[in-house]
Amino acid sequence: MRAAVIGLGWWGKQIITYLHPSNKIQVTHGVDVQVEHLADFAKDHALILETDLNAVLNNPDIDAVILATPHSMHEEQALQIIAAGKQLFCEKPLALTSQGAKRILDAVQKQNFVLGIGHERRFEPALEEVLRAVKAGELGQILHVEANVSHNLFAKMSASNWRVQDQDAPAGALTALGVHLTDFFISLVGCPTHVRAKTGRVLKDAVGKDQVMVQLDFKEGITGSVTCLSTTPFHGRITVFGSLGWIEVKENGNVDWGLPSEMTITNSEAKRSFKSLPASNVVLKNFESWADAVAGKSVYRYTPEQIYNNIQVLEAIVYSSNHSSEIVAIH
Ligand SMILES: NC(=O)c1ccc[n+]([C@@H]2O[C@H](COP(=O)([O-])OP(=O)(O)OC[C@H]3O[C@@H](n4cnc5c(N)ncnc54)[C@H](O)[C@@H]3O)[C@@H](O)[C@H]2O)c1
Repeated sequence: MRAAVIGLGWWGKQIITYLHPSNKIQVTHGVDVQVEHLADFAKDHALILETDLNAVLNNPDIDAVILATPHSMHEEQALQIIAAGKQLFCEKPLALTSQGAKRILDAVQKQNFVLGIGHERRFEPALEEVLRAVKAGELGQILHVEANVSHNLFAKMSASNWRVQDQDAPAGALTALGVHLTDFFISLVGCPTHVRAKTGRVLKDAVGKDQVMVQLDFKEGITGSVTCLSTTPFHGRITVFGSLGWIEVKENGNVDWGLPSEMTITNSEAKRSFKSLPASNVVLKNFESWADAVAGKSVYRYTPEQIYNNIQVLEAIVYSSNHSSEIVAIH
């Protein structure tokens, strides 16, 4: 599959680097509104640079487009890409409203395409093990899921950066970061039925909303929570509690730091065992599994319904936090 990456900022460049060993996806083109500073990167990766998305949409040699632009651009650009007959891999969040997500998913379905989505965390060995244990019933009946993913990597950025604008980050850091966790919880225990959220600016000099707290209700009485803080050093923890045991996964650093995850597994006698799982190229795994699904060789693990549900959850979080933490039902 010959692909173009749109948006050559932090993550667009990371994607190209992660895809380097792939013999399934070859990134031949890169598009950004500013390309002057990208000459060395383009040379290192044998990349043709363009400044206009249409240049790659009109190029018959390009099969697929990978979208890594600011969040508020995703919907319009995704629809353009699909209308041009190119397979789409979209970075998260797919869209900022459930209607937007539906428009994209409908367009994908009409073309009989497979939508790729940048929730590579589901490929982390530790999270694959959590999913396996839950589905195998090893934790008994699931009671509660909780996660805290926080970092201060953007704490000192300019207040004008898109990442902290309401237009692109209406749910603060959850819009970019916490959506991986809501996606993982959806894969684990299904779509939440109700959401209650609070976002705030706690530190006076914070560049945007620096605290997000979400409470979730799932079917069968399962409860959950997700917290994202934007001014504390890196913390990443996911815990799943069941009637027969619990599992906790702690990450030692951001996805691109290449550090192992630590896992604690506790049985019904409260006996603990520990595992350290090395980091792996989960971005490559996600992209290659999508390429296999596009080629009809396998089924992609993110169903359109799950992708849609995650944007419903994001939309409900935004609504709740803008309406005094009102409880929002998800239909
Ligand atoms: N999957 C992950 O783990 C992960 C990690 C980080 C970021 N992301 C996602 O990647 C996306 C980009 O984030 P980032 O951190 O790279 O942001 P960034 O600001 O570093 O990069 C965005 C790039 O898009 C370019 N751009 C803006 N408008 C454009 C247009 N009309 N056409 C082409 N390019 C345009 C900008 O010039 C910039 O270079 C976001 O959706 C973000 O959530 C995903």
